Amino acid sequence: MTEIPAIAPAVATAYVRNWMTPSPFANPIFVALDTPDLGRARDLADAVRPYVGGLKVGLEFLTAQGPSGAAEIVSLGLPVFADVKFHDIPNTVAGAAREIARLGISLFNIHASGGIAMMRAAKQAAAETNPQMKVIGVTVLTSLTDGDLAVVGQSPPARAQVERLARLAQASGLDGVVCSPREIGIVRRACGPAFLVVTPGIRPAGAALADQRRVMSPAQAIAAGADILVIGRPITAAADPGEAARVIAEEVARAPAA
Ligand code: C5P
Repeated sequence: MTEIPAIAPAVATAYVRNWMTPSPFANPIFVALDTPDLGRARDLADAVRPYVGGLKVGLEFLTAQGPSGAAEIVSLGLPVFADVKFHDIPNTVAGAAREIARLGISLFNIHASGGIAMMRAAKQAAAETNPQMKVIGVTVLTSLTDGDLAVVGQSPPARAQVERLARLAQASGLDGVVCSPREIGIVRRACGPAFLVVTPGIRPAGAALADQRRVMSPAQAIAAGADILVIGRPITAAADPGEAARVIAEEVARAPAA
């Protein structure tokens, strides 16, 4: 079980609710530190840490800051999700999985469309380094519409592709998937309650969509059964990121359980 970080009393109920679910991540809010700058990432993490359950570092941060930057974020003491979306031949992805698992992170992701052999190789390699490591399959990016899928030769609708890839990820031994909040129900029905569902594309009422398309509010995503909400710009682009995180944490705390 992941250690529970110190929390504001107002959001404590969300933690209690989630202790009763199979999710190992007690507070579902992971903030996406999408910046190339280590100081900015640390400042954001410090501002949001009373209200969130984890931090997410992705391609922008890791490309700029590398493993030492990741180690700095891990040292802050919250669970860290490395959003690396590996997609290559099985041997190469296994090598990358082995290395990323050394960084002290709690979970990372790979593209489920890379296929069964790639997913199995990644899970096995990560487990050799850290048996607790969660490996998550990316289904369909939340920025893609049904029309975008057709353009790249995948059959719409997105929800059918998400279900297919979630079943494949589970059959390949992965711990969960990333999908849009609108597909949480489909994945839960297909893969059961213990399979982790990680959802970006979270937008509180009134927030800008930016490049996201298949979105939901934090409360709706929790009510639908998400384990982890990956939230970036609604928190990081706010004038006061700590206050934005607090407001979202309270919304999540009030959301009815799935
Ligand atoms: O700023 P925003 O809330 O849209 O950030 C969402 C985060 O989730 C980004 O870091 C993005 O890379 C990530 N993500 C996503 N869609 C996926 C997987 C990860 O938007 N399918």
